Amino acid sequence: MEIVILPTPADVARTAADAIEQQVRRGPSVLGLATGSTPLGTYAELIGRHRAGGLSFANAQAFLLDEYVGLPAGHPQSYHSVIREEFTGSVDFAPDAVHGLNGMAEDLEAEAAQYEERISASGGVDIQILGIGTDGHVGFNEPMSSLASRTRIKTLTRQTRQDNARFFESAADVPEHVLTQGLGTIRRARHLLLLAMGEAKAEAIAAAVEGPVAALCPASALQLHPHVSVLVDEAAASRLAHRDYYTDTFGRKPAWQGL
Ligand code: F6R
Repeated sequence: MEIVILPTPADVARTAADAIEQQVRRGPSVLGLATGSTPLGTYAELIGRHRAGGLSFANAQAFLLDEYVGLPAGHPQSYHSVIREEFTGSVDFAPDAVHGLNGMAEDLEAEAAQYEERISASGGVDIQILGIGTDGHVGFNEPMSSLASRTRIKTLTRQTRQDNARFFESAADVPEHVLTQGLGTIRRARHLLLLAMGEAKAEAIAAAVEGPVAALCPASALQLHPHVSVLVDEAAASRLAHRDYYTDTFGRKPAWQGL
């Protein structure tokens, strides 16, 4: 794991956008997209670079991490709608290149299994953007999720429904169930970019990065992945015990290595 502590959320967004741009410029790419507030700055940055003329997603595909169960694709808070509104609808992905889970599927288990197959058939995710929940979830893998899990239905914790209530009229309107890529699915992506900003994420980041690998903190499963970049602002890094070490080693890293 490489921990990169950056001064501001804007620096986190720019650094994540740089990594995604590099991947997309390398050739046909498969991007893993998160929703929620965390990646919004990164998406805005990528849209800006697209509009400025240089960056095209025409040869890229994208897979969403998760979806609420019971919200139709047209619902403004379905992740299908959110990602189109916040990112994919403002750049030049080919029609049908952005894949999501159908939270209205009659057979949710079959939907989850087919999603796994679609990810595999694409050749797998090259770079996966991840946010982190205050309870340590990634995707919607809540505490005690199997570290080997695959895409499946999960029940959200009260804490997560409370955290996401800001997108709905009230916490009671946040769906109870989701379909989410599993921790095992996420760990198959070739490069993971875990982003976190703000004091509210500091405890989860410390547990994920410096705590033991444990199902109690699902994001700690990322410690088992060979290529993870954790991009955090000063506030999200505030509970890390080894901040000086991370800053020192990142500062002296050969520039050609990139993230
Ligand atoms: C969303 C997702 C979640 C969020 C997490 C943080 O697709 O997978 O894991 O990344 O809940 O949410 P925000 O960014 O809104 O704090």
